[in-house]
Amino acid sequence: MAEIGTELTRFILEEERKYPSATGSLSLALNTIASACKVIASHVRMAGLVDILGKAGKVNVQGEEVQKLDELSNEILIDYLSDCGEFFGLASEELNEPIFPEKGKNGKYVISFDPLDGSSNIDVNVSIGTIFSIHKKVNGTQEDFLQEGYKQIAAGYVIYGSSTMLVYTTGNGVNGFTLDPSVGMFLLSHPNIKLPEKGKIYSINEANEKKWDKEGLKDFINTLKDEGYTSRYIGSMVADVHRTLIKGGIFGYPSDKKNKNGKLRLLYEASPMAFLIEQAGGLSTNGKESILNIKPQDIHQRTPVFLGSQKEIKQLLEHIC
Ligand code: AHG
Ligand code: MN
Ligand code: MN
Ligand code: MN
Repeated sequence: MAEIGTELTRFILEEERKYPSATGSLSLALNTIASACKVIASHVRMAGLVDILGKAGKVNVQGEEVQKLDELSNEILIDYLSDCGEFFGLASEELNEPIFPEKGKNGKYVISFDPLDGSSNIDVNVSIGTIFSIHKKVNGTQEDFLQEGYKQIAAGYVIYGSSTMLVYTTGNGVNGFTLDPSVGMFLLSHPNIKLPEKGKIYSINEANEKKWDKEGLKDFINTLKDEGYTSRYIGSMVADVHRTLIKGGIFGYPSDKKNKNGKLRLLYEASPMAFLIEQAGGLSTNGKESILNIKPQDIHQRTPVFLGSQKEIKQLLEHIC
């Protein structure tokens, strides 16, 4: 196992060396994402001092009011990912349709990303993040974005929290890197992250309880309360999932009477987070099956999401199935 403090670029190259047939494409792809997120982090850290707080004055394809930092993060990622040449196509929460960069014509991958997750928390200085999911280019068409989560080549997030951390997997476990801002490098701080078998925290927006359409969900939450669990809900998926990855427990955003498929988007929120959680020994479900087995029909489709430790997910399924 790599040593604590190993620099991300070196870690990625050492991982690549384990695959003699590797061409270096994925290494460049991952390093490019890390570079783009360092730039986003520098803007996030200054958000109160420069004019990037507040609304951008437009509504996105999700029907949400776009925040200036949503837009800036999206532009930074598009710029870096288009320029590196490894990505045939880019799909973003903030783009109606995917884009196919000129320099990516021979790229091997397609990437779906949420450039800034937790927008409602930007102006109140609460943790936000960037989420990404990488699949192989197959036919060189828009269909390439609509592959199941278990086919992901890599997935990860950057959380702009009390520190800036990059957490990612390429299907061989999960590793976390903390940004040392004094040298601008991501250093290995959380090698081989494994979720505890069970946690003591549940994370769900209980304000929606009256709208939940899953019989048994309320009973499940009450059972956890009886077992002495505490509630933590930050409202940024990246932060709620990061805490679940480290401490265990369960995070959920269920469907409800108004939102038949819940709120979170499959391609660039639920699927990459499910890949990470399952790689770390946890489980994910939409209430019926692993999130990773869902065949996407649309770039921006939503899905009910529950993910976390084995004990809580199994207990949830006993209540709602
Ligand atoms: P985004 O800011 O990328 O649109 O995502 C927001 C999501 C997710 O981060 C979080 O888990 C969820 O919205 C919170 O929704 P509620 O405020 O409805 O609980
Ligand atoms: Mn949004
Ligand atoms: Mn999001
Ligand atoms: Mn977002």
